[in-house]
Amino acid sequence: QKSKVVVTRDLGPDVLGKLREDPSVDLFVWPPDCGCDRNWLLEEAEGAVGLVVTLTDKVDEELLTRAGANLKVVSTMSVGYEHVDLAGLAKRGVRLGYTPDVLNGAVADLSIMLALMAGRNGGNALAHVRNGEWPNISWSPFGWCGPQLSGTVGGPKKTVGFLGFGRIAQVTLNRLVGFEITRCIYTTRIGSPPKKDLEDSLTEKHRRVNPGFEGVRQVDLKTLARESDVLFILAPGGAETRHIVNEELLREMKRTSVLVNTSRGSLVDSDALAKALREGWIWGAGLDVVEGEPDVTADHPLVKQPSCVIVPHIGSATFATRTDMANTAVANVLAVLSNKPMVSEKRVWQD
Ligand code: GLV
Ligand code: GLV
Repeated sequence: QKSKVVVTRDLGPDVLGKLREDPSVDLFVWPPDCGCDRNWLLEEAEGAVGLVVTLTDKVDEELLTRAGANLKVVSTMSVGYEHVDLAGLAKRGVRLGYTPDVLNGAVADLSIMLALMAGRNGGNALAHVRNGEWPNISWSPFGWCGPQLSGTVGGPKKTVGFLGFGRIAQVTLNRLVGFEITRCIYTTRIGSPPKKDLEDSLTEKHRRVNPGFEGVRQVDLKTLARESDVLFILAPGGAETRHIVNEELLREMKRTSVLVNTSRGSLVDSDALAKALREGWIWGAGLDVVEGEPDVTADHPLVKQPSCVIVPHIGSATFATRTDMANTAVANVLAVLSNKPMVSEKRVWQD
């Protein structure tokens, strides 16, 4: 008997071919390349053994109930899994596949792009030229100036901060060492001990490239906010981290600092951030994610802030990375169907 596999997006012929050509798979794919219709998914899920989803598909009690007892695996083409009801999977013995690691480089690249854009008035400068205003304000000695991300010879020390210090944060730090930053501070889950070995090995590694590098150190959240010149948010979303960046924390930050969020919108209180930007508590913000996305319209308080650079959740959007993510998502399902270990499994229950 064939196993029904439902895929909520067109992942292209090369990737889907691996499922299509598998004689044990009965494949159902949501045909258009846009958000999968919820009702289609609820209907198609009935009797499915595997579901391949993206972060815009809610895998909740309703969907899991509709899928029924045949369901063995949910495979999300994302590193985040806030859209998946882990307890619902655990109680049914359904396994979860996801796609960490393959997107680290792409998200790190975008994080740095946003840090540079927000620091250097990128959003305003682009709009200025596009609106035909360049002739009105030409070059001037201190026109368009912003804080510099990289270190300067004899200049002030540069501290980059990471809220969350997992894989993507560490890859971002790797790239930033080339910018001759002075030090790195980070905060992880409340109560988690410092990653001492990691701190030492990263410090040693980066000093070899940049002898002026002082080191990597865990700090509390308040110190992170106070001392970071650029603060990268690279921690998971969910209830535990919701609005961790709030008014109180933003008030601690330097007036010249830049906040970058490339993880989940829910970590930042949007109203507080809009206020911080409006009143100049911080210099700027670069956001790949905003709470309530994609319903972020031109009248959104953050969109209206000139010092806020916003892109529509494109952190992993390179051809190479999205292809890797799609292949991983499909490989995870095929692994479960053939009783092999998944490429990347998120454990949802304790053995
Ligand atoms: C993107 O946000 C992802 O979770 O992969
Ligand atoms: C990620 O959030 C971590 O704790 O490193």
